[in-house]
Amino acid sequence: MTKPTPPKETVNEEVQWDKTKIIVSKTDVFGTILYTNDVFCEACEYDKLELIGEPHNVIRHPDMPKIAFKALWEALKKGNNYHAIIKNRTKTGKYYWVITDFTIDKNSTGEITGYTGRRKAVPDGVVKKIKPLYETLLQIEKLKGEKASELYFHAYLNEEIGMSYDDFVVNLFEKEVALNEQQQENTSKNENNTLKKKLEWFFFSKYE
Ligand SMILES: Cc1cc2nc3c(=O)[nH]c(=O)nc-3n(C[C@H](O)[C@H](O)[C@H](O)COP(=O)(O)O)c2cc1C
Repeated sequence: MTKPTPPKETVNEEVQWDKTKIIVSKTDVFGTILYTNDVFCEACEYDKLELIGEPHNVIRHPDMPKIAFKALWEALKKGNNYHAIIKNRTKTGKYYWVITDFTIDKNSTGEITGYTGRRKAVPDGVVKKIKPLYETLLQIEKLKGEKASELYFHAYLNEEIGMSYDDFVVNLFEKEVALNEQQQENTSKNENNTLKKKLEWFFFSKYE
């Protein structure tokens, strides 16, 4: 089997991928990759044959705090769907940020057989807001240990956000997408107004 070769170094450069598309992967209950779509391969730069049968942490980025994945697995093991904002690392060490919608796969008797992750690109505003939290969690993890990072994570959500991590990231994503759409609408309105003014000037100046 073709084994993936994770990068030796991390490159501070975003990988180019088609951000209008959805990145999909499926795993068994242990997080072993069973399926990826072509967009997944395009984003992470690994070949499908390198990924199938490998642990999903093959694309784990060292900037991600451990608590982010601990909280994910706790939710999944309880049978709860979940959302997370994740920075992934590609085969050449580059990165890409996504919001992932995790769902539970069950067989006909209701037993959990695995999980599916569907990812969308996130607007820059989302990254700007989540990055400082992840940096703090990672620093605490390195200096004071995983437990301290976990306790800070829950206290931060309680004291500063007032909602679960899942609700927090979904709200953040939806707010930033709406803001981007509004800005685009305003830009095209301004462009239309400028064009209208130019045309008015053209028509009026002709008959003066
Ligand atoms: C369906 C599914 C998709 C996942 N997608 C990612 C992913 O895109 N990036 C990632 O780093 N971990 C992902 N994980 C979590 C990994 O299994 C793993 O917990 C994580 O990379 C942390 O690695 P570690 O548990 O070895 O510390 C996913 C897990 C599941 C079940």
